[in-house]
Amino acid sequence: MKKELRKAVIAGNWKMNKTPAKTKTLIAELIPLAKDAGCEVVICVPFTSLATAVEAVHGTNIKVGAQNVHFEASGAFTGEISAPMLKEVGAEYVIIGHSERRQYFGETDETVNKRTKAALGAGLIPIVCVGELLWERETDITEEIVSRQIKLAFAGISAADAAKTVIAYEPVWAIGTGVTASNEQAQDACKLIRDRLTSLYGKSVADSMTIQYGGSMNAANAAELLAKEDVDGGLIGGASLKAEDFGVIIKAATEG
Ligand code: PGA
Repeated sequence: MKKELRKAVIAGNWKMNKTPAKTKTLIAELIPLAKDAGCEVVICVPFTSLATAVEAVHGTNIKVGAQNVHFEASGAFTGEISAPMLKEVGAEYVIIGHSERRQYFGETDETVNKRTKAALGAGLIPIVCVGELLWERETDITEEIVSRQIKLAFAGISAADAAKTVIAYEPVWAIGTGVTASNEQAQDACKLIRDRLTSLYGKSVADSMTIQYGGSMNAANAAELLAKEDVDGGLIGGASLKAEDFGVIIKAATEG
């Protein structure tokens, strides 16, 4: 099974942007640009915009996701949001282990694993983020870092559940910096991830899994990145806040 048989997923990570009112406006602009998409189109909005976004995309091909999820279903975890809560509000996807969560909010490979299990348990599709820091790439340990992140993220997760998961390779040095990984660097890392998944789950599961690239993907560079054999979509930050640019990326995924 090869690229053409995998689901291409273009997901916008809005980060801490857009009030509910602005969410509505941006979605109204996105709907016509996404309607003929030959890929899955997802927007991961702030928690406060989830209900508005779910209502605004109703009857369209756009799916809604959250940007984090707690691993417990309920309890004394002030400020946290659980997987059943996201499910009930109508989210279908959730980003887990984004590098900003790892860097600024103490996210670890262990909590990534727990959150991934919680999301799967509630019927959400996790978008599990992995990727190396700049000094790790410069020290030539990208392979070790990404392999370790994958192994720990998927510890104790069955092949059937793994097959439902999307992975985003996001080199930390490329996020929000305007510096994009070269097409070859993106391909090599996505291929490495697929090889690790093959060791964990076998070839047919690994070949069916969607692996995105993320990190300064934009309207100008998306087509080339998405043309790579093991790059099955994108997790897009800055460019997902501009409807026109996001539309160009969706088109690139559709044509690629
Ligand atoms: P960026 O962000 O496209 O702005 O680099 C990507 C991400 O953080 O998911």
